[in-house]
Amino acid sequence: MIGTGYLGTTHAVCMAALGFETLGMDVDAEKAASLSAGRLPFHEPGLESLLRDQLASGRLRFTTSYEEVAAFAEVHFSCVGTPQRTDGPGADLRYTEAVVEGLGPHLSRPCLLVGKSTVPVGTAERLAARLAELAPAGRDAEVAWNPEFLREGFAVRDTLRPDRLVLGVASDRAERLLREVYAPLLEPADGPAAVPLVVTDLATAELVKVAANSFLATKISFINAMAEVCEVAGADVQQLAEALSYDPRIGGRFLRSGVGFGGGCLPKDIRAFMARAEELGVSPAVRFLREVDEINLRRRAAVVDLARRFGGGTFHGRRITVLGAAFKPDSDDVRDSPALAVAERIRQQGAEVTVYDPKATDNARKSFPALAFAESVTKAACGAHVLLHLTEWPEFGDIDPVELSGTVARRRIIDGRNTLDASRWRAAGWEFRALGRP
Ligand code: UDX
Repeated sequence: MIGTGYLGTTHAVCMAALGFETLGMDVDAEKAASLSAGRLPFHEPGLESLLRDQLASGRLRFTTSYEEVAAFAEVHFSCVGTPQRTDGPGADLRYTEAVVEGLGPHLSRPCLLVGKSTVPVGTAERLAARLAELAPAGRDAEVAWNPEFLREGFAVRDTLRPDRLVLGVASDRAERLLREVYAPLLEPADGPAAVPLVVTDLATAELVKVAANSFLATKISFINAMAEVCEVAGADVQQLAEALSYDPRIGGRFLRSGVGFGGGCLPKDIRAFMARAEELGVSPAVRFLREVDEINLRRRAAVVDLARRFGGGTFHGRRITVLGAAFKPDSDDVRDSPALAVAERIRQQGAEVTVYDPKATDNARKSFPALAFAESVTKAACGAHVLLHLTEWPEFGDIDPVELSGTVARRRIIDGRNTLDASRWRAAGWEFRALGRP
């Protein structure tokens, strides 16, 4: 497993748990050392204990050497990041390319390099040509693509019991090898049903991933667009979404309205998809994603406006408490987090902003050093004029509004995730506002 970030670590640990001899590799010696010592450099429920079990079993270890990787395995998974470029909307492929450059010259026997990262369509074919040039094994060092759909917070479950497996291959040999690797999921001994399998060419496998994330982002922006309409029509987006959800063709998942999507995948993937479509000359086909992105960003602005109006038309002299910093609950990931984007914008407009998050404070502080952070809801809410609920951690649902009343300067709360019980807050004397709701 090359690249021991979020995806690679989860995959390495799960492969070892499935019984494979597994070697995790990272160019970052500190990361490899931390993992070897059984310490996860990020938060993910259940993963750290599984990491320790697998280290103890002797099936899993970590290295920083491409040479060792090449000698170790027949199947190499590339799990490095493909962030958004700093100079534009496309994907930055430098880490993916570095894997081919680093590993390629050591590949002297037949093997498979399986990409798991999200990449612009056409990347795998290009990498395959480069690998054949670099590897002493030539064309016997092959490339396959196996997109990963795991969600943060559910990474272990999603890896061991994925909704589907997509194998993009360029030869029968590649398909055979990958079927062997995934045999425990495709032919489970007893109990769970076999995971659905789709075998495709390389380009289709690459596209499946961006298409899936584009669809999910579109679904969220759809309901958030309806929230905008509800706000001016005096309607309730929560009831609207519930009514839609009973139609099995629509379904209720990813139909939660609020401050919108963030994280390391959906926002950058739709932007990279638009950039790639433009290169391919099919921009009109994905032009709607521009709208999806804009609707999403408008929700952040809407929360800022609502908070300003709620606070009396200005942020000057106002104390605002933001509940949540992670882009979603059960994660310490703050990449493109709507909560922090809103908090920072409000701070820039003159308010004194204090943020509380159960797990993401350290990461949030690194990215937003000018924001203040507190260690508890109560401390964060001290003297607040408005509370903003922007990441729906379960503990925020358990807050007792009566108890919190004595802490704040004004009993006003905005639910930016539509998960709090409005009647409880109102019964305790709070003014309660939510997005898309009267
Ligand atoms: C996503 C995809 O779900 C996953 O399949 C892919 O592999 C990586 O990208 P992830 O980024 O972990 O996973 O988070 P996800 O649970 O999809 O949530 C993304 C964002 O959408 C979060 O900010 C979340 O709060 C938001 N969201 C999700 C909504 O606003 N409404 C919803 O109904 C669902």
